[in-house]
Amino acid sequence: MSERSFVVAVVGATGAVGEVLLTLLAERDFPIGELRPLASERSVGSTIRFAGKDVPVQLAEPSAFDGADFVFFAATGSLSKDLAPEAAKRGAIVIDKSSTWRLNDDVPLVVPEINADALEKHQGIISCPNCTTIGFVMALEPIRRAAGLRQVIVTTLQAVGGTGKPGLDELEEQKAALRSGQPAVPKVYAAQIADNVVPLCESFRDDGYSTEEVKLLHETRKILGMSSLDVSMTCVRVPVPVGHSASILIETETPLSAAAAREALSAFPGVEVMDDPANNIFPTPADVVDRDEVLVGRIRKDIGSDRLWIWQVSDNLRKGAATNAIQIAEAMISRGLR
Ligand SMILES: NC(=O)c1ccc[n+]([C@@H]2O[C@H](COP(=O)([O-])OP(=O)(O)OC[C@H]3O[C@@H](n4cnc5c(N)ncnc54)[C@H](OP(=O)(O)O)[C@@H]3O)[C@@H](O)[C@H]2O)c1
Repeated sequence: MSERSFVVAVVGATGAVGEVLLTLLAERDFPIGELRPLASERSVGSTIRFAGKDVPVQLAEPSAFDGADFVFFAATGSLSKDLAPEAAKRGAIVIDKSSTWRLNDDVPLVVPEINADALEKHQGIISCPNCTTIGFVMALEPIRRAAGLRQVIVTTLQAVGGTGKPGLDELEEQKAALRSGQPAVPKVYAAQIADNVVPLCESFRDDGYSTEEVKLLHETRKILGMSSLDVSMTCVRVPVPVGHSASILIETETPLSAAAAREALSAFPGVEVMDDPANNIFPTPADVVDRDEVLVGRIRKDIGSDRLWIWQVSDNLRKGAATNAIQIAEAMISRGLR
């Protein structure tokens, strides 16, 4: 990469995504001259360990962006709404993990393996898709390139880590409560999550869909540049700490055999096929934790039609969040956009 080094701020550095982001910035040797971990007043005074040093956490406020090259936002949607324009106004490239800017026409929504060209039109703020959308489109794009897409039906099984630290804490608290004969009291989710499955991610809209489901639909269409792609979706929360899964039924424009789909998926950067039914080989969330690749298995023709089934798993904190955000910054640098 470049010989230059950059001033990098991370808003939400103490959160689930922020922590992974810091780990990956170090792991990927991102060229950092100065790191500014930012969070709320609750965390000011604490430090985070980065590259062998304790770095103090500062308050996320406009002046913290002075002179920054890249500002990663991994906090709340309302904070991104208020502060991302402040960072962009000061000349920083904002890479936002919240849903706030994703469907804004002036904001590229980018998965670098798929639509890095969209970065060229950026106006300071770049959005990272939802953690579920990223794994989903990474599995769809190779199929689309091979045979086009006509219709997609998906059920997602989403880890509690997708709700950040509060989700992870709730699962552990409820498991402990159930072990000691106490009731599992839901706070983050609408129903008990320990030893259970909840067919609701985020909250319901008036039409009976959840906000998460509608994000998955619109973000997929925007990233793939297919504004009327037929996607039907149900998003389900499962008691898994990290790793979102999806069971996907795909109708292609032209016929595609399972073998050809396997080949297209294997050849796509960032996708790894784990598919050997004879030996019980398929990907699970436990296989994907701490991995950047999107894993795909159970590739098979539908028994009753020409459609294809696939099963996809990705680490929601890595490729679903931190990895994708850093890949965007890396692509900006390699394209000379910063
Ligand atoms: N978890 C995932 O898999 C995932 C995946 C993709 C996208 N996202 C998105 O990424 C963002 C972060 O999610 P997360 O899961 O990491 O959440 P989290 O674990 O709850 O962490 C939230 C972070 O935001 C900070 N924060 C909250 N309110 C703040 C405020 N008013 N001012 C400054 N900092 C504030 C917190 O700082 P304190 O420690 O000081 O409270 C903490 O660092 C969200 O927009 C989420 O939708 C999450």
